[in-house]
Amino acid sequence: MKKTLTLHNGDKIPALGLGTWKSDDKTYPAIRSAIQIGYRHIDCALRYENEEEVGRGIKDAITAGEVSRDEIWVTSKLWNNAHQRKHVRPALELSLKNLGVDFLDLYLIHWPVALRPEVIFPDKGEDFLALDEAPIIETWQAMEDCVSAGLCRNIGVSNFSIQKIEALQAHAAIKPSVNQVELHPFLQQNDLLKYCIDNAIVLTGYSPLGSMDRPERLHLDGEPTLLDHPDIVQMAGDHRCTPAQVLISWALQRRTSVIPKSSNPQRLKENFEAQEIHLADSDMERIGKMDRHYRYIHGTFWTIEGSPYTIENLWDEG
Ligand code: A2P
Repeated sequence: MKKTLTLHNGDKIPALGLGTWKSDDKTYPAIRSAIQIGYRHIDCALRYENEEEVGRGIKDAITAGEVSRDEIWVTSKLWNNAHQRKHVRPALELSLKNLGVDFLDLYLIHWPVALRPEVIFPDKGEDFLALDEAPIIETWQAMEDCVSAGLCRNIGVSNFSIQKIEALQAHAAIKPSVNQVELHPFLQQNDLLKYCIDNAIVLTGYSPLGSMDRPERLHLDGEPTLLDHPDIVQMAGDHRCTPAQVLISWALQRRTSVIPKSSNPQRLKENFEAQEIHLADSDMERIGKMDRHYRYIHGTFWTIEGSPYTIENLWDEG
């Protein structure tokens, strides 16, 4: 049974998707395997630098008769160096070209952070645009124009706090359909989830397994791990499933969308089959107690010296 979540315009997004960040040279075979297993939602981004491989995988699956374009949900994301109004549509068109599709099902603002057009990752303060040089509402209005032009069916945000969504909604003609943020038992974000449910915004969770293959510079000494946490391991034993399946099933039962990444066919299948697992209320309560507001993707790469961003104004916390 494939679960879907309904967006505010009535579109249905498959709740379980495939994450493609870090799939690197395994992207093409991962897409082919995933579609054969039954995945119908692929989460991409220009910045993952593998959209062409994703697109080739989708195209070959369509040619092989495994799926049609309308049966597959494709999300991509606007990178931080294209927030100024004139850069938004060209950035989306580049993703369409890379992916070999005529439209995206969903286009997200990747981060509430603006960089100069020539910068991909910042290494000094001047690489950022000042907060008033690229107001997020102007980025959003350019995203709305892309919907009107038929280039994407839904638009949303990523890494946005309640405060930032509220500010956007106050001036938006089209409400965000989705907010994609880091979500897992150590970072449950219950207030954000409640806000999104109340406002008919689907919350999508990235790094649901703890993203252990993230680059070395994003690892901290002594960070907690999810897949071998004793409670998760014990629940997996109780349900005769794997720890990853417990984590995915928990996400689906919270009415979030979830995009575990794998480039291994066996694990792709295992993750997909998590849709069949049902955790008991007592399991959900037990996982509820694991929250420690711990981010694996802490965002400090946006808060280097001279940046207008701080951890406090990035997450609106603290
Ligand atoms: P691999 O791609 O080799 O399967 P996240 O989705 O949180 O970013 O986590 C991705 C990481 O979790 C990758 O290292 C991925 O490795 C690994 N992974 C994916 N599925 C599973 C699974 N079912 N069991 C264990 N590790 C998994």
